Amino acid sequence: MNFDRSIKIAPSILSADFANFGKEIEAVESQGADWIHVDVMDGHFVPNITFGPPLCAAIRPHIKTVMDIHLMISNVDDYINNFAKAGADIITAHIEAGNHSHRTMQAIRSSGCKAGIALNPSTPAESIEYLLDEIDLICVMTVNPGFGGQKFIHSQIAKIKALREMIADRPIHLEVDGGITNHTAPLSAEAGANILVAGSSVFKNGSVQNPNPYGENLRSLRLSCEV
Ligand code: DX5
Ligand code: ZN
Repeated sequence: MNFDRSIKIAPSILSADFANFGKEIEAVESQGADWIHVDVMDGHFVPNITFGPPLCAAIRPHIKTVMDIHLMISNVDDYINNFAKAGADIITAHIEAGNHSHRTMQAIRSSGCKAGIALNPSTPAESIEYLLDEIDLICVMTVNPGFGGQKFIHSQIAKIKALREMIADRPIHLEVDGGITNHTAPLSAEAGANILVAGSSVFKNGSVQNPNPYGENLRSLRLSCEV
C-alpha cells in the first residue's frame, strides 16, 4: 500500500445487509468505495456484538480494495494474529482497550499489517504522542463506539486538528469514524482527516439489487469535501 493523503471513503459494513456481506462489498466497491471498514465488537469493550475472524476471512476474497479492521474489543493482543490471518490490511485497536498500546502496535506490525490506534471521544490527542513512530493510522471516534447511525460529536474537530499537526509529514493516515455525513465530512476533512468512515450515509437508500444510490452517496460525500 503506497501512502497518499488524498481523501478516501471507507464504508462501514455495519450498515450493510448482514445476510449478504460478499455482494454488499462488491456493490459498494464497484460504486467507488476506496476501503472497506469492518467493525468488530465484543460486547465487553462496547455494548454490542458483531463478528470475529471467521467472518473476516469469509469476506476477504470479496474485498479488492483495502480491508480496514476496527477492533472494538478487550484483550486485543490475544486476537491480532487471528485477524491478520483473516486477511486484514490494517488492524486498528483502541488505546483504551489495554495498558500496553505501544506493544500492541508493534505486535500488529509484526503480524504483517498496518497498525492503527483509535481514540474514544473522551481520550485526548496527546495520549498517542509517544506512539507516532509505531503507527500507520489514527482513528478519531466522532461517536461513542458501539453503534452505527449516531450523531457526530463536534468537540472532536479540535482533536482532529491537533492530531493533524502532531502527524506533520509522517506517513500516518488520519481517519474519522462515526456520524459522517455531507455536513460533517467537510468539517473533518478541513480539520485534517483523510480517511472518512461512513456507514449509514453510504448504505442509505440502496441495496445489492439497487446499488446506484451507494454511488450517489459516495459521490456526494466526496463532493462535500471539495468545497
Ligand atoms: C461505530 C463504528 C462505526 C460506525 C459508523 O462504533 O466504529 O464504524 O459503523 O457508522 P455511521 O457512519 O452510521 O455513524
Ligand atoms: Zn469503525
